Amino acid sequence: MSIAILGYGVVGSGAYEILTKAGYKVSRVLDVRSYPELGSTLTYDIEDILNDKEITVVAEAIGGNTFSYDFVSRALKAGKHVVSSNKHLICSYYKELHALAKENGVTLRFTASAGGGIPWLYNLKRGKLCDRIEKVMGIMNGTTNYILDAMIHDSRDFSDVLKEAQQLGYAEANPSADIDGFDVARKTAISSSIAFDAVVSENDVMVFGLRNIKKGDIDYISEHCGKTVRYLGYGVRTENGVAAFVEPTLLPIDALEANVRTNNNMISLFGEYVGRLSFYGQGAGKYPTGNALAQDIINILQGDTALTFSETDAVICNEEVKRSYFIRTDAAVKLDFEASSEMIGETRYIFTETVSVAQMHDIAEKILAEDPESFFAGMEAE
Ligand code: HSE
Repeated sequence: MSIAILGYGVVGSGAYEILTKAGYKVSRVLDVRSYPELGSTLTYDIEDILNDKEITVVAEAIGGNTFSYDFVSRALKAGKHVVSSNKHLICSYYKELHALAKENGVTLRFTASAGGGIPWLYNLKRGKLCDRIEKVMGIMNGTTNYILDAMIHDSRDFSDVLKEAQQLGYAEANPSADIDGFDVARKTAISSSIAFDAVVSENDVMVFGLRNIKKGDIDYISEHCGKTVRYLGYGVRTENGVAAFVEPTLLPIDALEANVRTNNNMISLFGEYVGRLSFYGQGAGKYPTGNALAQDIINILQGDTALTFSETDAVICNEEVKRSYFIRTDAAVKLDFEASSEMIGETRYIFTETVSVAQMHDIAEKILAEDPESFFAGMEAE
C-alpha cells in the first residue's frame, strides 16, 4: 500500500514531508515543475499513478477545478481512495465525486478543504453521528481575519494589510476570492452539506463581501453600539431547509470570534445535545494544511474507508433566518425597516430592525447599484 500526491506546491509538499518523516511511503508525486530532490518519485504523467497497483490512496493538492477534476475522477475510477485539500474542486463536484467513489467502492476525504489545518470537517462528521446540528458558523478565511484584526487593533488601511497578507502567502492567487467572499462561500457550502446531510452549492450561499469596509465603519460601530466586526460564514438549519450566507458581522467585543487574532480561523457547530463546539487554529499554510491532508490519508490506510454523503440537494431557505443589519451608504435609500439612521455629510449610517437574509441581500443589490462602495454587515444576536 502506498501513496501518490498530485501537486507539490505549498500543501502537497507539506503533506509529503509529514508523511515521509512519519514513515509512510509516498511512491509518486505528480507535478508539471521539476523537483530534482524528488528523484524518480516525481512524474509528469498521471498514468504512472493510475496504473500502479501498489498505490491505494491519491492525495490531490493541485487546486482549481479543471486538472484536479480530471485526475481525481480518473483516480476514483481506477479504484483508488482520494483525499483532497481543494475546496474549489469539492464544492464544484460534491455529488459527482461522491457518486464516483460509491460506484467504485472507494472513499473520498477532504478535511483540509475547509478549516485548513483544523480538523473541523472530520469532527463535524463525528459530531452529527447521533446529534442534530442546528448551525455551523465561523471565521473560515485567514486573509480577511488578518485584515480586520490589523484594521481594528493597529488602525491600518484595508489595502495595505491586504498587500501584506498576499506577501505572507495567506491570500488566494486572486485575492478577490478572499475579500469578495467566494472562498468562505465554498467552505460554508461544504460544511453545510455535511452538517445538514443535503448538498448546498456555493451558488446557494448569499454573500456580502468585505472589500468595502473602511476604518470609519469600524470606529462608527464601536462608538454607536460598542461592537466589533468579524467576517463569518453561516449554515443554519431552518424550519423548511437550510440557510447559508457569508457576511461581515457585528459581534460583542467579548465574543469568542471577536478575539480570534491575525490569520487564525475559528469554526463552530451547534448541536442539539452537545451545544456549542468550537475549533480554532491555522486555516491555511504548508504544515497545518499538509498535516490535515496527511491525517486523512493515514485514516484511510488504517482502514477507515466509510463513505457517507447525501445525494439530495438542500432546500435553500434564506428567507427563514432574520437578523438586524448595519448599512453605510451614500445611496439615497429610506428603508421601511430602519431602526435608526444618521446622516454624516452625504453618508447614511443605518441600523435596521430584523429582516430576512434573503430580503436584505435583494435590497443590497439595489443599494450597491446606486453606491457600489456601500458596506453591509449582519448583527449577531446577543
Ligand atoms: N486564502 C485562504 C485563507 C487560504 O486566507 O484562509 C485557505 O483556504
